[in-house]
Amino acid sequence: MSALLPVEQRIHQLRTAVTAYADQYHTHDAPQITDGAYDLLFRELQDLEAQHPGLVTLDSPTQRVGGAILEGFEPAPHDRPMLSLKDAMDNTDAMAFVTGAAAGLGVDTEALELTGELKYDGLALAASYVGGVLVRAATRGDGITGENVTSQARTIRNLPLRLPMPIDLEVRGEVVMRKNDFELVNKQLLSRGEKPLANTRNGAAGSMRQLDPKITASRRLSFYAYGASELNGETPFNATTQWDLIQALLNLGFSIAPETAVVRGWDGVQSFFERVGEGRAALPYDIDGVVFKVNTLQGQQDLGWTNRTPRFAIAYKYPAEEAISTVRDIVVQIGRTGAATPVAKIDPVRVGGVMVSSASLHNADQVHAKGVKFGSTVIVRRAGDVVPEICGVVPSAADETLRCFVMPLHCPSCDSRLERQPGMVGSYCPGGLKCPAQKLAKLCHFASKLGMNIDGLGDKSITALIEAELISMPSDLFSLQAPDVASLPGFARVSAAKLTKSIAAAMRPELARFIYSLGIEGVGEATSKALAKQFGAWSRFRVATYDELIQTPDVGPDTTANIQRFFADECLGLEADSLAAITSPQDSLKTTGSNLSGKVFVLTGTFPTLSREQAKALVEDAGGKVSGSVSSKTSFVVAGDSAGSKLEAAQNLGIPVWNESMLLAALAS
Ligand code: IVH
Repeated sequence: MSALLPVEQRIHQLRTAVTAYADQYHTHDAPQITDGAYDLLFRELQDLEAQHPGLVTLDSPTQRVGGAILEGFEPAPHDRPMLSLKDAMDNTDAMAFVTGAAAGLGVDTEALELTGELKYDGLALAASYVGGVLVRAATRGDGITGENVTSQARTIRNLPLRLPMPIDLEVRGEVVMRKNDFELVNKQLLSRGEKPLANTRNGAAGSMRQLDPKITASRRLSFYAYGASELNGETPFNATTQWDLIQALLNLGFSIAPETAVVRGWDGVQSFFERVGEGRAALPYDIDGVVFKVNTLQGQQDLGWTNRTPRFAIAYKYPAEEAISTVRDIVVQIGRTGAATPVAKIDPVRVGGVMVSSASLHNADQVHAKGVKFGSTVIVRRAGDVVPEICGVVPSAADETLRCFVMPLHCPSCDSRLERQPGMVGSYCPGGLKCPAQKLAKLCHFASKLGMNIDGLGDKSITALIEAELISMPSDLFSLQAPDVASLPGFARVSAAKLTKSIAAAMRPELARFIYSLGIEGVGEATSKALAKQFGAWSRFRVATYDELIQTPDVGPDTTANIQRFFADECLGLEADSLAAITSPQDSLKTTGSNLSGKVFVLTGTFPTLSREQAKALVEDAGGKVSGSVSSKTSFVVAGDSAGSKLEAAQNLGIPVWNESMLLAALAS
């Protein structure tokens, strides 16, 4: 059993396992084990290292949590300057680069091979490895001398601390804060009453420049590599192209965007730029453009450098997702759940490719935390289809004299007194479906694309239907008659018939869609899917207890409480029942495998990473039972090294035999 292994051996075993699991999680986005199982292994390693400080090494995954606080950053001179790229702001600039590079190399424009890479929007970092171990990490600084941020860099979870081979190498790339980590970090900062980060770039840069590496560790940074050279200045791995170099970095364990590709000529450049642009909002991190580099390293050398930028590469930029504007007014909007959201009315500005004149401020706490006032100069952000938001203030001397925002006491739509529920952020209008603003927002949400997807039912037609008193809640839609609709402003006979037809087509919705369309706070697309999967039928979801709801993956106490509050509200609960009776949501097939409930396990032999006790705890946490002997009731036998009679019994009885990784995979699914 593992407890009998000598300490060094166990530490080594744990380090290898933790590093591999973390690598699968952070670098390959493919978790192999649950967070709980990972934490168990990590904590065991931490405890063993605490008991045996002499056995701690620089490349141990425990070193990622951040060491001692620094007094200042040491200068870190660069062997080769860290320069920047020339920008192409439109297709004329980009075309000029492609034709210029092709001409410089004496090849046809259409034959020129380039790599298409993402232009990660963060902070440049040069990471030096000696004998395969990370020994120094430096920021760009002025390009000649950077700052030594080695302790901070060690906390970046997907930056290898040790390479699989003992080489001397400098890897350059970008430190970024992924979008979901940014949300998480900002939630934590706001809950502590601290100023939120304005954007992911500031998040990455600000977090790397923390003298206390523990703060950097809490910021959940990531690293994406885009170049490398041997410390003696040579090209590593005898690579002859940028593509080879990137593949080599990938093999060494560095993260590289999977979009990276080799493209040919102007057509290739343009289609890569467009394809990545279309997927930009869905990427896990912010990018501000794509980078094209002449693929052959010989070609790169032939084209060479100006004094500031390489001639062989270009940064082809997308329209900025952020812009600066001025707050003219702050109004309060009431959403479908009654949430009162302060919205800034700003001087119209072009951002993310469209004109924006209002932007969300989320809640009163954020208005104050960000320091937004009437007249503030603000950073406005619009990424993809996401509602534009104010992410921060550009400080000015006039700020002191500006008027502050005060949350009104009453709902601007129904005049109910706004409430603040304990433990919840923001104010709510308790008016429910009696509040006109909530009624409209609920109906719009119900009919929306991700909801019941009722074609031709947008906010204008819903407003007309409400004003004509034809509808007041979603269930009324199903008794609409085409002739009544036809007489309304904005409708005619054909459009009215079309609308009633698309309402009829919304019958028998998928359960997930139906749950989403109810507009329960915190129950978005992903949560609705998870709930549909967990309960399988509306009738089961409708009566689910707190304990049952909270077992749904990714459903926490807040969402569980929201669901229960929703059904406990007489009006909302009754309306949900009517809607279910009218539309008959389809049952969704319950897939097994998300947990081990009802399964009986027998554990035998020595497992490669888990101790028997750890494995037992994990099975039981996932709802399974662990039994000491094999019988016809046994669902699975998990066998490690030197498994004996129990393994034999399982084989005789035809019971499936798993190894440790199969168990971990089942726990993670
Ligand atoms: S190559 C000579 N490739 O963009 C410069 N840079 O202005 C070599 N960046 O600060 C850089 N993604 O940190 C390169 N795929 C990529 C990049 C990238 C982001 C950053 C880099 C630099 C800035 C260039």
